Amino acid sequence: MSHTSQQSATLHPSACDRASEDPDRERAKFLVAQLEYHNYRYHALDNPEISDEAYDALFRELVNLEARRPDLRSPDSPTMRVGGKLLDGLEKKTHSIRMYGLDNVFSEQEWYDFVARMRRAWSDQTNDALPQAFWCDPKLDGLALEIIYVHGVLQEALTRGDGEIGEVVTEAVRTIRTVPLRLQGDDPFPVRLEVRGEVVMFRKDFAALNARQEALGQKRFANARNAAAGTLRHLDLSKTETRPLRFLAYSLGEVQWGDAAPCRHHSELMARLANYGFLTPPEGKLCLTPECVQQYAQWVRAHRESLPVDIDGVVAKQDNLAVQEALGYTARAPRFAVAFKFPPAQVQTQLLDIEVQVGRTGALTPVAVLSPVAVGGVVVSRATLHNEDEIHARDLRVGDTVIIQRAGDVIPEVVGPVLTKRPAGASMFVFPSACPACGQPVCREQGEVVWRCENVTCPAIRLRSITHFVSKAGLDVQGLGQKWVAQLVKKGLVQSPADLFTLTVEELLNFDRMGETLARKFVEALSVVRTTAPLHRLIAALGIRHVGEQLARGLAKRFRDLDALKNASQETLLGIPDIGSEVACSIRNFFDNPANCVLLERFKDVGLWPQESLDGAKQGNASVLQSGPLAGKTILFTGTISIPRTKAQQWAEAAGATPLSGVSKNLDYLVAGVKAGSKLEKARALGIAVLNEAEFRTLLAQSGIQMD
Ligand code: IVH
Repeated sequence: MSHTSQQSATLHPSACDRASEDPDRERAKFLVAQLEYHNYRYHALDNPEISDEAYDALFRELVNLEARRPDLRSPDSPTMRVGGKLLDGLEKKTHSIRMYGLDNVFSEQEWYDFVARMRRAWSDQTNDALPQAFWCDPKLDGLALEIIYVHGVLQEALTRGDGEIGEVVTEAVRTIRTVPLRLQGDDPFPVRLEVRGEVVMFRKDFAALNARQEALGQKRFANARNAAAGTLRHLDLSKTETRPLRFLAYSLGEVQWGDAAPCRHHSELMARLANYGFLTPPEGKLCLTPECVQQYAQWVRAHRESLPVDIDGVVAKQDNLAVQEALGYTARAPRFAVAFKFPPAQVQTQLLDIEVQVGRTGALTPVAVLSPVAVGGVVVSRATLHNEDEIHARDLRVGDTVIIQRAGDVIPEVVGPVLTKRPAGASMFVFPSACPACGQPVCREQGEVVWRCENVTCPAIRLRSITHFVSKAGLDVQGLGQKWVAQLVKKGLVQSPADLFTLTVEELLNFDRMGETLARKFVEALSVVRTTAPLHRLIAALGIRHVGEQLARGLAKRFRDLDALKNASQETLLGIPDIGSEVACSIRNFFDNPANCVLLERFKDVGLWPQESLDGAKQGNASVLQSGPLAGKTILFTGTISIPRTKAQQWAEAAGATPLSGVSKNLDYLVAGVKAGSKLEKARALGIAVLNEAEFRTLLAQSGIQMD
C-alpha cells in the first residue's frame, strides 16, 4: 500500500470539496490522514515509514493548528488520543444487539456433538445441507469491547458489561493506537458498523509494563488481562495512554451496510476489518470441515506459547453469515459459534531448590525455585509450595522434573513430579529446624501446618513488617516498595517503622539510583502520611496477626488512640463484636511485647499519633477533601449496595461529602442500590441526581479515595 494512495484514501470527500476555500481545513485534513496512516503503520503493522521525530512534527503542527482553529478539531482527530484529563464517570448504554457469551466445548467429542446440534437446528429450518466451513481464531483472554462507527468515523465505544448494557469508554478507547478513529479505505463506508473484539495487552508489552512498574517501585500486575481491564476502565486517560493496549476485532454487532458492499461470509468480514485498519486475532483460519477445525484447535494449543497474546482456546464460527443469522441464539449463546477451550497450560521444568521464606508474622513458607519456563503467557521461576505437608503430599524432591500449571488469573502452581524422570538419589525435603534468616529455632504448634520463627528481632520478619507497614494494606506510602525498604534496612538506616519518619534527604542520597528529586519525594510522602494517616490505617500497618483493615476500623472507633488500645484488657477486647479469643490473644501478645511498646513511644516522638474523635470522624490527622466531585456535596444512600452502608458513608465523607438522612431539595446525590424504594421516587420527583454504585465509586476514584 503506497503512502500517497493511503493519504487520499482517508480524505473525506466533503473536506476535499471545500478544501480550496479554506487552506487550514485542507491542511488539518491532510495532517489527520497522515497521522492516522503512520499511526497504523507503527502500532498495527509494526512497520513505520517515518521517524518518530517526523511523526511528532506532524502531530505538533496539528495540535497548533487546532489550537488556532478549534472549529477544525474533529472527534476523530489523532490529537484526541492524548489523555491527561479525567473522564466524567462511566455512563451506561444498552447494546443495539446483545453481546452474547459463547458455549464451551472441552474435547473432540463435545465439538462433534456441537456440530450435530447445529445440524439439527439447521435441518429444522431447511432441507439444504448445512455449510461446513468455519472461521476459526484463537479465543483471546482480554476484555470484550464494541466500537461503533458511523459513516466510517468512530462514534462510541462500549464495554461488554453484562452483555445487555455496557459502559461507555469512548475516550479511553480513542487512546488505543490500534483503534482506527476513522475507517481506512474508500467511501462508501457502512452507515453504521458495530465492530466487536477484544482489548488485550501483548505479552511483550505486558512484560515491559511490569518491568516499568517495578522500576518505579509500584505493584506488578498479576496478568495481562487485569492490566488491560484496569487500564480501560481507568478514568485517568494519561494512564490509558501509557499502557500498551491493543484491540483485536473478531465480529460485528449491528451493521447497516448502506452503499457499502455487504459481507456474506465471516472470512470475508475478517479481511474487510483488516482493510478498514483493524488488527484481527493472530492465526485466524478458514477451516472447510469440522475435522479441520479439530486439527486447527490442536495446532493452536500446541503453539499457544509462541502467540503474541494470552489465549484460552479457539473460537469456531459458522462462516456463512446468512446461516449464522438463521441459526440464531439460545438464551445464553449463539448456535453458530462455540469456544473450544484448552485445559490450563501445563509445562515441565526442573525443581532446582526449595527455599524457605520468612513472612511478616514469622510464618515459614517453602518456595519452589524452578528453572525458568514460560507457561500461560508468563515466565515462571518461583512458585509457592504452601507448607511442609503439601510438599510431602505431592512427594516433591529437589532435582525432580515437575509439572507447572497456570490457568488464566491463577498464580502458577506445582502440580506434581514426573516420577519417570526422577533422578537417582533425589532426596526428600527436610524442613529446616532453624529460621533461615536469624538461625533461631522454629516451632510448629500441634494442629497447625505452619512452622514459625518467633524471634521478634529476626531481620527477615523486620524487613517484611516494615514493607507491610508502608504498603497499601498499611500506611500506603507512595513509591516506597520492598526494594527500597530492603536497602534502608540493609544499610542500617531503618530498624523499625518509626525510623522511616526521621530520614533526611541527605541520608537517602547515599543510595544507588537515588537522586535529589526522588529523595525529596520520599521524605515528603512520609511526612504527608505522618500528619494525615487515620488511626485505623496505623493499626492495620502494625501487622498484628488477624487484624486487617476492617477490624482496624472498629478498633480505631472504639479506642481512639494507640495508648487506649494498648491498655485494653483481654476481657475488654472480647467484649467487641467480631473479636474472639484468638484475635484478642493476638492483640494482647502484640502489646505485651516490650519491643512493640518502645515502637509506640517512638511513633509519639516522631509525631505519628493519629486520634479518632468520639463520633468516628478523624481529627488532627484528619484528611477530608476540599476539592473533587464530592467535596461540599450532600449525599444519601438507599437500597442495597455491595459495600456496607457505614463504609460507603465514610468514603463519601473522606471525599468531602456530607451524608443526609432524608431526601430534600438540599440533597445533591442519591446513591440508589438494589430495591431502592420511596426515597428513589422522591429524589426523581425532585430532579436530584441519582447514582448507581458504579457511578458512586467512579466519583470516589476521581476524588482519590482508596476503596478497599
Ligand atoms: S466471536 C457471537 N471470537 O469470548 C460470538 N469471541 O467467552 C461472537 N472472545 O464474549 C464472539 N476471543 O467476547 C469471538 N476470537 C474470538 C474471541 C471471542 C474472545 C470472547 C467474546 C465472548 C467471550 C465468550
